[in-house]
Formats: sequence, structure tokens, C-alpha cells
Amino acid sequence: MNNQPFMTLQQIDEAAQFIRTRTKHHPEVGIILGSGLGALAESLADADIIPFTEIPNLPRSTVPGHAGRMLIGLLEGKPTLVMQGRIHFYEGYSMSQVTFPVRVMQRLGIATLIVTNAAGAINPQYTPGDLMLITDNLNLVGMMGFNPLIGPNLEEFGPRFPDMSQAYDRSLLQLARQAAQQTQTTLWEGVYAGLSGPSFEAPADLRFLRLAGADAVGMSTVPEVIVARHSGMRVLGFSGISNKANLDGDTITTHEEVLEAGDIMAPKLETLLRAVLRGL
Ligand code: HPA
Repeated sequence: MNNQPFMTLQQIDEAAQFIRTRTKHHPEVGIILGSGLGALAESLADADIIPFTEIPNLPRSTVPGHAGRMLIGLLEGKPTLVMQGRIHFYEGYSMSQVTFPVRVMQRLGIATLIVTNAAGAINPQYTPGDLMLITDNLNLVGMMGFNPLIGPNLEEFGPRFPDMSQAYDRSLLQLARQAAQQTQTTLWEGVYAGLSGPSFEAPADLRFLRLAGADAVGMSTVPEVIVARHSGMRVLGFSGISNKANLDGDTITTHEEVLEAGDIMAPKLETLLRAVLRGL
């Protein structure tokens, strides 16, 4: 199966070194923008822009709605690296490739990672356009044997058996709650279930996820969070609810719908993220 190649420290460092030559900034915060949520990157101040295709060893993002660019600039005065688009497992890349950008961020000295995604609502209270603070995740792909840390352990980054008890940093969760209050943004809190995709879920999948305690479901994020935690990065995560997951089988989910909801959510998310950055 496609759990290989395992990316090496040398490949990670080649990418990090290349990025250093292409920017004057020393980023402290990393942000990964999910499907349809890329607009935030446009408002970065004094940004250096690097297409993914130019970065050594970085897989290409092949999905519509993912611009495939890295931007390094200032957000609320904080030097920030933004991934405008991400790499997904369903594109056929290995878990190690999917999480390569997080490894590169680590070598660049980034200590805080903010992950965002588009997700389907499993919690019946959620409606499209809502935002959810990710308090925990269900690593379903990992449970099936696709954990991004499978393979040789890169000792430079962290231990063989890293802890995941507080994957989403408690003080950052608190900061996000404050940011939501300050900006009068409605922010649900819930559990994100990470599947591989690319097919959306069947109704029985969704009822299973609901029973398992998931509030939102998507096709990303969890591997990135695991790799971030492996090296002790502090992680904060948000899901933009793009559609009601189809527990009854009566509605159809499309990628177009996901991207349209992104247009509505992106400004709200930007307001919230800016307030978070001010508080960091
Ligand atoms: N399921 C899985 N991934 C998603 C969904 C969904 O309903 N919406 C956006 N990403």
C-alpha cells in the first residue's frame, strides 16, 4: 500500500534550506489552510510566495480549491508561514509525504501549528458556514495502519512512541475561546474524525462516526497533528463546516458545495485567526 516512501531528514532539510534562501522572514507560526479556505493567505503582509512545485521534495497538491503555494509573511505582526493548500493521503501520497510540510516547518523553527480544514457536520446542531474548534480527534486512518510515524523514527524530531493525550494545546484552546468572544464569532467545540476519502461517507459510516463521538468529519489534518506533536509543536485546529453530513441518505455532498461554503467561512476564520495571532 502507499505508506512509502518515508521522507528522510536530508530531504526535509533540503526543502527547509531552499525556503530559507527564498524569504527574509523567520516564521514562528505555521498555518495550513483547508479546502476553500485559502483566502486568508492573500492578506499576509510583506509576503514571500513560493509555489509548492519549486520546493525540493514537496509533493504537488492536485486538488481544486488548493492553490498549492507557501506564503511567508506577517500576520498581525507575527512572522507566519501559510500553506495555501495541503497534501492529502487520497491523492496517492504516503503519510510521510502528506506530513512533509510539517517536518519542514519544524526544521524552520516553527513552534506553533494552526491547522484548518473543511468538514462535514455529524453533530446535528451544526449548519454549513459554522466554525468548530477541534478539541480532539479520531485517528481512523491511523487505526487502519496508516500512521505518519510508521517507518524509521526520525530521532532528531521526537521519540518512537509520542504521547497524544493533549494533541490540541490546552492554552491555545483557551486563547481560541477568548478570540471567539472578542470577535463575536460563534465557535462550536468538537471532535474531528479523520478519514482517508476521497469518497464521501455512506449514511452507515456517518452513523458509526456519530456513535464513536465524532462531531465533524474530513479527509485531512490528523496526520499533520500527529507529526506536529511528535516534535512537541503546540497545535490548534479549526474545522469549517461546509455541509451537513448525510446521516439519512437523502442529501448529496459535492466538492463544489464544500468550496462554496469555504467562501462564506474564510472571512470568519480570518477574523478569528487574527485575534488568535494577536494573543500568541
Ligand atoms: N465528509 C468528508 N470530508 C469532508 C466533508 C464530508 O462531508 N465535507 C468536507 N470535507
